[in-house]
Formats: sequence, C-alpha cells, structure tokens
Amino acid sequence: STSTSAAPLLADEPKQNGKPAFNDENDPPLFSPSLISEEVAARLPEGYTIRPLRRSDYYGGFLPTLRVLTTVGEPTLAEFNARYDFISSRNDTYYILVICDETATVVGTGAVIVERKFIHNMGLVGHIEDIAVAKNQQGKKLGLRIIQSLDAVAEKVGCYKSILDCSEANEGFYVKCGFKRAGLEMAHYY
Ligand code: ACO
Repeated sequence: STSTSAAPLLADEPKQNGKPAFNDENDPPLFSPSLISEEVAARLPEGYTIRPLRRSDYYGGFLPTLRVLTTVGEPTLAEFNARYDFISSRNDTYYILVICDETATVVGTGAVIVERKFIHNMGLVGHIEDIAVAKNQQGKKLGLRIIQSLDAVAEKVGCYKSILDCSEANEGFYVKCGFKRAGLEMAHYY
C-alpha cells in the first residue's frame, strides 16, 4: 500500500493533531492571488475555489489530476520541492493555478508561462500548458474557468496574446474558450 512507502516523505509535513498544518506563512501561494479574476471565480460551481498552486499541493489532488493529461511519474517530496522552488523563484514567469472542489481537493489545474521577446516591442507571450480536469469533474465548465483565469493572468501581466498546442480532439474545447487555430505544432523529441 502507499502508506508504507509514503511514510518517510511525510516526515517533513508540518502536523497539528496528526493533520497537516499549512498556512499562508509556511505555505504561501505561488503568485499573488490578486491576479486571479474575481469574475471568473464567481462563476465556479457552489463551494469550488480557484487559487495559485501551493507547495502543499504535493499532498492533494494536484498530481492525480495531472494524470488525466499524461504520464506524471511518482515524484518524491524532495523532487517536487526542488521543482517547486525553481518555479517559485521565477514566479514572474510561471503561473500555475488549481481549482478545488467543496472538499478542498484539487480537481483542475492549468499554467501560463510568460515568454519575454525582443520582437513586437519587447512583447510578452503567454504559453498555456498542462490543462487538466479530473475525469469525474469534466463537463462542469472547470476547464473553461481555468482558461479564462489564465487568459486574465496573461493579460494582466502584459501579454499581447496567449498560445497553446492541443490535439484535434480538444480543438472544440479551445474554440469555446475563444481560441482559434493558428499555425501548426512541430516537435523534435530527444
Ligand atoms: N471537444 C469539443 N468541445 C469540448 C471538448 C472537446 N474535447 N471538451 C469540452 N468541450 C466543450 C464543452 O462541451 C463545453 O461546451 P458548452 O459551453 O457548449 O457546454 C465547453 O467546451 C467547456 O467545457 P468544460 O466543461 O469547461 O470542459 P472540461 O472541464 O471538461 O475540461 C478538458 C476540458 C480540460 C479538455 C478536460 O476534458 C481534460 O482535462 N481532458 C484531459 C486532459 C487534456 O486533454 N487536457 C488538455 C491538453 S492541451 C493543453 O494542455 C494546452
């Protein structure tokens, strides 16, 4: 079972009465919550919330949610923390947010990465990445709210556009989110 293998990793988890004790001080949001559109948040289902990623999301539904998208692996707490620290030290570039259900479980996530260009008068471009909604939560407009929130972040930090790559199967979803087909993705795997 997972309890034996997870035990050493949980040693670093702050505890209060045997429960994790995270707060704004020891577990701050990845970026300023003021960048999250209140208008979009108000349109979530009753009891649902949208917020920046936190380090403690290692313990909740964040990684399981990402597994609907692709292979995630089984990162250790140390591996997760190392990546979180890298991202957090560049939190003017990486904006990762999560949607939680009424039990505070992460059920959706998405990211926008801000690229700084020389062209277009030092233009900023948002790259939307890693959009995922837990299987049993799909069809509640959570995906739409994630994209609307990321769009709002990108606009607020000064991007002139956001772009993304997706499969043909997801084109209709992104069209409903206001995107249109532009160009063609190419990849060179190493
Ligand atoms: N094709 C066409 N329309 C779609 C699709 C689709 N694949 N998925 C949703 N829609 C429509 C919905 O019917 C809805 O339409 P409506 O407004 O007329 O009712 C609208 O798009 C909004 O749908 P949501 O309910 O917000 O979609 P959901 O919360 O289910 O999230 C998502 C969509 C993110 C694609 C989800 O199905 C998912 O996590 N899939 C697996 C992971 C994945 O493929 N992620 C995207 C990878 S691409 C990237 O990350 C840049």
